[in-house]
Amino acid sequence: MPSTPAITFHDGRSIPQLGFGVWQVGPEETAEVVGHALEAGYRHIDTARGYNNEKGVGAALAATDIPRDEIFVTSKVPNQDQGREATLASFDATMADLGLEELDLYLIHWPAPGVGLAVETWRTLVELQEQGRIRSIGVSNFRAEDLALLEAETGVLPVLNQIELHPYFAQPELRALHADKGIVTESWSPLGQGGGELTDPVVEDIAAAHGATTAQVVLAWNLALGNVVIPKSVTPERIAQNLASLEVELTSEEVTAITALHRGEAGRQGPDPSVFGGHQGR
Ligand SMILES: NC(=O)c1ccc[n+]([C@@H]2O[C@H](COP(=O)([O-])OP(=O)(O)OC[C@H]3O[C@@H](n4cnc5c(N)ncnc54)[C@H](OP(=O)(O)O)[C@@H]3O)[C@@H](O)[C@H]2O)c1
Repeated sequence: MPSTPAITFHDGRSIPQLGFGVWQVGPEETAEVVGHALEAGYRHIDTARGYNNEKGVGAALAATDIPRDEIFVTSKVPNQDQGREATLASFDATMADLGLEELDLYLIHWPAPGVGLAVETWRTLVELQEQGRIRSIGVSNFRAEDLALLEAETGVLPVLNQIELHPYFAQPELRALHADKGIVTESWSPLGQGGGELTDPVVEDIAAAHGATTAQVVLAWNLALGNVVIPKSVTPERIAQNLASLEVELTSEEVTAITALHRGEAGRQGPDPSVFGGHQGR
């Protein structure tokens, strides 16, 4: 079982660089799937109130013998729960479903600029952290202007920003901004949701050179950039395969060749955070 490196936050805590995402894992199968991931060696689970499967994650955490402090758990406050009172209630519901006393990382799921409650929600996360209920606080899908607003209004920078990031949508500008501000970049859909990147000829050639799968190469590229990755799979063989990407070491030329696959906006698969303000969780 490969050991997972840790990335240190600006608040002094750290996160395992490779974790397990559970978006679109059905509520009935989540406990079993997360159980597979823990057995395979994952020690970091990424869920959200909006995924409707926190109870399943909680069941897997309750069933394992692995000590609580060896498993890093992230959840997120959904758009419809932004604002102080709704966030406090949402957080309580998340913690009841997860069966946890303290959460490792809590994120604002989307900036939802149309809703206009990101700053108030951020102050609420700061409050929960001060009460000792959350260890680290961060955001997801925040653009440069959303990060600047939080900093200007509160002076508190997120430890991490979880953003869509895969070879066709490599986020060069946000990665540079994060590096400048000491914010960790976390890649969602790090495999491009299992799409075209996994059959791209550049990725296929590099995979052949390493005797690895294309999924492992795409994850190894993400890791080489210093990003935290949270691939999702319900397939036990892929769950193990994705973790083993930690053993694939790319050359700097290979990393550069994959980064050059970036397509700008055309590579985006998920919603655009500047307009996404709806109420469904992702
Ligand atoms: N913050 C946000 O707004 C946001 C948005 C989206 C996602 N996320 C987080 O990021 C996590 C990962 O993103 P994602 O689920 O969108 O996509 P992903 O991890 O990039 O890709 C998952 C897809 O790839 C397939 N797959 C997994 N491993 C594979 C392998 N080794 N070979 C071939 N195919 C493979 C999976 O199929 P099977 O499951 O059938 O094996 C699934 O269809 C989510 O689960 C969630 O935790 C966050």
